[in-house]
Amino acid sequence: MTPYAAAPLGELWMVVAVTAGLGLVVAALGVGVIWRLRTRSIGVMLAVVVVVAVSATLAGVVVGIMEMIIDGPVKDSVLAIVAVGGLVGLGAAFVLARMVVRESRRLVAAVGATPFTAPRGLPAELQTIAGSLEEAYERERALEGARRELVAWVSHDLRTPLAGLRAMAEALEDGVVRDPATVSRYHRQMKLEVGRLSAMVDDLFELSRIHAGALRLSRVRIGLADLVADTLAGAEPVARAKGVVLTAEAAASVPVEADPGALGRALGNLVVNAIRHTPPGRTVVLRAGVDAGGMACLSVADWCGGIPEEDLPRVFDVAFRGEAARTPTAEGGAGLGLAIAQGIVEAHDGTIGVVNDGPGCRFDIRLPLLRS
Ligand SMILES: Nc1ncnc2c1ncn2[C@@H]1O[C@H](COP(=O)(O)OP(=O)(O)O)[C@@H](O)[C@H]1O
Ligand SMILES: [Mg+2]
Repeated sequence: MTPYAAAPLGELWMVVAVTAGLGLVVAALGVGVIWRLRTRSIGVMLAVVVVVAVSATLAGVVVGIMEMIIDGPVKDSVLAIVAVGGLVGLGAAFVLARMVVRESRRLVAAVGATPFTAPRGLPAELQTIAGSLEEAYERERALEGARRELVAWVSHDLRTPLAGLRAMAEALEDGVVRDPATVSRYHRQMKLEVGRLSAMVDDLFELSRIHAGALRLSRVRIGLADLVADTLAGAEPVARAKGVVLTAEAAASVPVEADPGALGRALGNLVVNAIRHTPPGRTVVLRAGVDAGGMACLSVADWCGGIPEEDLPRVFDVAFRGEAARTPTAEGGAGLGLAIAQGIVEAHDGTIGVVNDGPGCRFDIRLPLLRS
């Protein structure tokens, strides 16, 4: 007769109950300990997990053996087996836990290094974290680069007209220029420069508000046809002065929910650019309508001869002005107009894009259409 075969059913239930109870007590203790240690190293927490798992298993076995089932020399052998098994299990678990900890240490070490490159072959969750970190670092680096470039450009752009202003003011003050024609030309030029400077400061202010997410939009229901008519009226004198023909084609009503001031500014920036890049006698066309995908669409098509393919993805970058225009010209801006337009459109849950089309390029703004 084997000893355990003698155990009656009632006693077996007892063993199950005691084992389960002990397991639960150990588990509860483990939860408490892990909670206290939750901000410590993953290694410490893994050690707790290992100890809890092994003790919960062994406690029931040991108590069962001691109290109920087995007696005599068999008892000692079984206890020895359980003890050795438990120790080996603990040891193996600690070794494995160290391997996991080593993986997390690899990530920690990589985070400390600059530039950050995500280590390969990490456990899935850590790999996900590493990937997100790499993206965040990349974004931060790009932003930082753009910011530095912007500061460099802007200080250059502000300094050039300021130097001109100072030279003209000094010439007037010293009486170097006397003849009335030159004096009035200087005055005109100074007014022009001051206007350009204050427009640039306005743009910078607008852009910093967009970047800070502080753009306050008061969105109302408007028709894009009205917006196009207003923009056309505003830009008409600029186009006429350059001999560019400005026309509009608008569907009857394209209702959207937008801030008319902000969206008008975005569209205005596109139109001013289009006029600037279109030779006299050629045409700039504004369109408002609904595209095939059911989005409200505003577009400005010009006669610029096309934007170089490699520049297309960059025209919306802050301070981008194309390779040819590294120095400010009388009519050139600071390269902020499209970045502002993009910020405004995106704040309206819309998208803005550019394609080369026919004799020039076409900028498209897409916005959610309001259904009546
Ligand atoms: N309609 C256009 N046709 C051709 N090139 C354009 C057009 N609009 C913008 N670009 C290019 O994109 C650059 C950035 O435009 P923008 O952000 O408005 O800055 P800015 O007008 O101050 O140069 C311009 O310098 C020009 O190289
Ligand atoms: Mg511009």
